[in-house]
Amino acid sequence: MATEELVRMAIEAMKYAYTPYSGFRVGAALLAADGKVYQGCNIENAAYTPTNCAERTAFFKAVSEGQREFSAICIVGGKDGVLEGYTAPCGVCRQVMMEFCDPETFRVILAKGEKHWQEYRLKELLPMGFGPDNLKKQSRRIE
Ligand code: THU
Repeated sequence: MATEELVRMAIEAMKYAYTPYSGFRVGAALLAADGKVYQGCNIENAAYTPTNCAERTAFFKAVSEGQREFSAICIVGGKDGVLEGYTAPCGVCRQVMMEFCDPETFRVILAKGEKHWQEYRLKELLPMGFGPDNLKKQSRRIE
């Protein structure tokens, strides 16, 4: 799938953001290995802590439908939905990505418009990340 189409789907997902407290609207479009795309928005809560980021909404939708392999995620966000700059994933969302994605190859695309984006690998955003491999018997250790 073309990056531009994934960006378009992230922008589309932002329209459902539920943000009565921060007004900061985020949309995500998660591309699975089989080509399917899962959209997510942030969902806030009066108790604040249960707030779910757009990225995790997309991941949890996908995993709950049987997807476990992903190639990319596009994220857009801005105050009142105005895309003025790039919105990078929070630390919790990076850790959720680490659970299901190969940090060497998984692409994180930050967009601020249909034709403006930056692309990173997960390992750049979460160096020395802790993931499922660390819990395997013969886990590779950092020397
Ligand atoms: N938010 C996301 O949805 N994704 C991010 O990566 C950063 C933060 C949301 C959570 C909250 O609803 C609002 O943005 C302000 O933090």
